[in-house]
Amino acid sequence: MSKVKEIKQQQKVLQKLKSRTGIFFAILLLGIILLSIPQVLSQQPVVLNMLITPPDAQPWRQGIIKDFEAKNPGIHINLIEGPNATNLLEDLYTSAFILGDSPYDLVNMDVIWTPKFAAAGWLLDLSDRITKQELAAFSLKDVEGGRYEGKLYGIPMRSDVGVLYYRQDLLQQANFQPPETFEDLLKISQALQKQGKINWGYVWQGRQYEGLNAMFVEVLKGFGGFWVNPNTLEVGLDKPETLKAIAFLKETIQEGISPRGVTTYQEEETRRFFQSGQAAFIRSWPYLWPLANAEDSPLKGKIGIKPMVSVPDESGGGCLGGWRLGIAKSSRHPKEAWKAVKYFTSEEAQRQFILKAGFVPSRRSLFNDPQIVSKYPHYPQLLKIADKAVLRPPIAQYAQVSDILQRYLSATLTNRITPERAMQAAASETRSLLRR
Ligand code: GLC
Repeated sequence: MSKVKEIKQQQKVLQKLKSRTGIFFAILLLGIILLSIPQVLSQQPVVLNMLITPPDAQPWRQGIIKDFEAKNPGIHINLIEGPNATNLLEDLYTSAFILGDSPYDLVNMDVIWTPKFAAAGWLLDLSDRITKQELAAFSLKDVEGGRYEGKLYGIPMRSDVGVLYYRQDLLQQANFQPPETFEDLLKISQALQKQGKINWGYVWQGRQYEGLNAMFVEVLKGFGGFWVNPNTLEVGLDKPETLKAIAFLKETIQEGISPRGVTTYQEEETRRFFQSGQAAFIRSWPYLWPLANAEDSPLKGKIGIKPMVSVPDESGGGCLGGWRLGIAKSSRHPKEAWKAVKYFTSEEAQRQFILKAGFVPSRRSLFNDPQIVSKYPHYPQLLKIADKAVLRPPIAQYAQVSDILQRYLSATLTNRITPERAMQAAASETRSLLRR
């Protein structure tokens, strides 16, 4: 073989070797990449998504999320702020679950949503994850709000109850006791208005949304009426008590005690109105107290709190609200989600959350907790109000039943239909819905 041929052959062998080692190294590299994927992935925190209203997001972000993430470095909580009305938030959760592939892991549920979400099969059953003893630390009504057909789908994160706030300073100056009856509320309002002490008497949430019904069940209770009996599914909307409740609300507007604008107000509009010193009374939730008592609030130190009024022979009741945490059945991280639920509903987290935002605890011990009571002296009183809270009907069809009442109530409060016709229609639509 000539020298040239020999060299050419050696070059060919070398090239073959080169391409084989190239392939070998490529395979080796791929192997390393494939092997290290789980490692890389495991270093990425698991992200738990949760949808929430903007006012609630603040106190979540301020403390408890940071603490949870510090204790659980592998988990990140991603709050997604939705609209500021519970029914709109519920619509977002609902459409995500119906369309499938929902991004939500944790479900921050209003007390009225659980039966629907559980009946639709969107939530994990949490019954076996928590003992009876652990549950006994929470208010019973809050725990019940997370149950459906005997199973537990949500652990109470915080409670809520409707209350009546009054301007203690003005009532004292004019020598009035806080009102006990609807009549007292109207009379004191008018007297203070006449004396020129205040522009308006009473503000309440009258917009067509869920808050309208929360406010309305309290007036209804005060007149001895009811909406839907959850056990018998009897509907009380066309009973005389309901018409009296509507007459009271209409009177507040007709008599100039409440501004006409209340029929467009949600919680925050009424709070701003009251907090700017324009009204003597407001029906709202306990979150208002720390805001109205803030350093820069003109009402600092000037408000009192009491249960909702009633007619003389009935007892008033605040509407039970409140939020619980559930886990979406579609979540890919149920283990991490349960860790989060456990932490956010723990006594430690709830104390911190409540100290920040003045929300109602769902753990009973916190109503008399020294740290909480020294900041919010009204909490022992709040426990009594919470214990007498009135429920909106805990039924799976609640969202539709609520929508019917919202529509007809709003129509009659804005004088588009008489109360009688409105409530006959609302009652019959509700009955036929519940018969289906
Ligand atoms: C509060 C209550 C909730 C209620 C809502 C109505 O957020 O906690 O239960 O449905 O107000 O606006």
